[in-house]
Amino acid sequence: MQTVVSGIRPTGNLHLGNYFGAIRNFVRMQESNHCYFFIADYHSLTTHPTPADLHGNIRMVLSEFLASGLDPEKATLYVQSDLPEVAELYLLLNMNAYLGELMRCTSFKEKARTQPENVNAGLLTYPSLMAADIIIHKAHFVPVGKDQEQHLEMTRTFAKRFNRMYGVEYFPEPQAYNFGDALVKIPGLDGTGKMGKSEGEGNAIFLADPPEVIRKKVMRAVTDAGPQAGQEKSQAVENLFTLLKVMSKQETVDFFEDQYLKGSIRYGDLKKQLAEDIIAYTAPIREKILAIAGDDAYLASVTRLGADRARESASRTIREVREIIGFKAF
Ligand code: TRP
Repeated sequence: MQTVVSGIRPTGNLHLGNYFGAIRNFVRMQESNHCYFFIADYHSLTTHPTPADLHGNIRMVLSEFLASGLDPEKATLYVQSDLPEVAELYLLLNMNAYLGELMRCTSFKEKARTQPENVNAGLLTYPSLMAADIIIHKAHFVPVGKDQEQHLEMTRTFAKRFNRMYGVEYFPEPQAYNFGDALVKIPGLDGTGKMGKSEGEGNAIFLADPPEVIRKKVMRAVTDAGPQAGQEKSQAVENLFTLLKVMSKQETVDFFEDQYLKGSIRYGDLKKQLAEDIIAYTAPIREKILAIAGDDAYLASVTRLGADRARESASRTIREVREIIGFKAF
C-alpha cells in the first residue's frame, strides 16, 4: 500500500472543475491507498482571514469533500490545524530551508509582486509547511496539479537534505501522482481556459450553487456569432460542448452537434439544456453538502476521527525525527 497525502486550501467553495479533477480521483484513490486528505487551514492564514470566515470556509470545504464521496473511514480526513505535530516539523525544516531558495520560488515571487503590502514570513516559508504536511506521513505520492510541482520539488529537496544531514534514509522522496487520462478538464464559462474561481465571477459553477444561480451563469456564458461555414468551433462554443459532453446524455450532445453542423443551432437552447443537466447532476450533491454543513455533531465526529488517525502517524514521525536530530531524554 502506498501512502498518499494531499491538502486543499479552504479559500473558496469547490466547483465542477475541482470535482471532476481532483476530488473524483481522491475518491478513487481512497480505495487502494493509505490516503491522508486535509484542509490546509494553517496555510490559509497567509491571507489573514477573519475567524468567522476561516471557520465557515473549513466547514464548507469539509462538507463538500464528504458530500462528494470522500469516506472518513477509508481515508484519513482531517483539519491541518488539528495536527500540531506539523507545526513542529515545519519549525525543524525551516532550520535547513535557505532564504535564497525560498525567495526563488515562483509562487512566492508572484505573491510578492501582486500583494506587496502583505509579504509575510508565512508566505516565504509556505514550501516548508507544505513539505512538513507531506513528509510527516512519509508520503510516497502527492496528487497535485502543475501549479504545485515546484513546491513538491522543494519537498524532495528538504527530505533529501534531512536524510543527508543526519546520514539516514528516513523520509521517502514523494512523487507527483499523475492522473493522466483520468483527469477530466472542465472549461469555464468565460470562453477562454479552464474553470477556476480566480477567473472572475460567473466563470465557475460551484457544487453548492442553487439552481437559479446555475441558470443565470450558464445563460451568460460566452458564445460567438454563430457557426461559420467551413470553420471550426470557436473556443467559447467548444467549451460549452465540452461541458455538455460531461453533463448531458449522448443524445443531447448528438442533437446539438447536428444542429451546429446544419448551422441552425440556437445557443440559447443549448444553454437552457446544459443548465438543466448541470442542475440535475449537482442537486443531490448540493443537498448532501447543505445537510452535512448543518450537522455539527457529524462534522465533530469526522474531524475527531481524522485528527486521531493523523496524529497517530504524525506523532510517530515526530518522535523518530527528534531522536534522529539529537533531542533525547536524559
Ligand atoms: N499548496 C496546495 C495548494 O495551494 C495546498 C497544500 C498545502 C497541499 N499542503 C499540501 C497540497 C500538501 C498537497 C500536499 O493547492
